[in-house]
Amino acid sequence: MRERSVGESMKIAIVYTSVTGNTEALMRIIKQAFQEKDQALSLFIYSVDTFDLSTLSRWDAVVVGTYSWGNGKIPREMRSLFTAFEEQEVSPLVTGVFGTGDSFYPHFCGAVDRFRDMLYVHTDLAVTLKVELLPQLQDLERCALFVERLLTRLKQRNIGKVFA
Ligand SMILES: Cc1cc2nc3c(=O)[nH]c(=O)nc-3n(C[C@H](O)[C@H](O)[C@H](O)COP(=O)(O)O)c2cc1C
Repeated sequence: MRERSVGESMKIAIVYTSVTGNTEALMRIIKQAFQEKDQALSLFIYSVDTFDLSTLSRWDAVVVGTYSWGNGKIPREMRSLFTAFEEQEVSPLVTGVFGTGDSFYPHFCGAVDRFRDMLYVHTDLAVTLKVELLPQLQDLERCALFVERLLTRLKQRNIGKVFA
């Protein structure tokens, strides 16, 4: 992971996918929670197809957002991101994963579980969040907590460095 120069703020990427808009709505709430918590953060949002996988290790934190597909599977468009985490040296990277799903299916938010298990092994996984379909009012607090936990881990990792 690169050295931080004095005064440089933490760089966080949210990389997500969404077909019918539920995960995108969740991403927007999480994005707002980051901005409310710390306006000095450098926060970048990427639909997964626009994210440059070769930059993975250059971020301070990467947050993954995904829906689930057929029997709790990872959507096809998220597979190369999944593999990039497995194949690159990203052990110091702080990560989080959130997702929406439908509890009608036997493996609710299975893609979140699959990312969680992999990120736990290959990165410094800080937090996960599962939401039923479209986020509701009661999910706002859960999103705020998600962000708080991720930022706390980021700060713990960067003690002694500048956290703008
Ligand atoms: C064919 C199909 C399979 C699905 N399989 C699952 C599943 O295994 N587990 C789950 O939790 N949700 C499943 N879902 C529900 C979606 O993950 C859920 O609607 C999600 O919120 C969609 O996200 P999006 O609006 O961001 O595209 C499935 C939906 C469809 C249409």
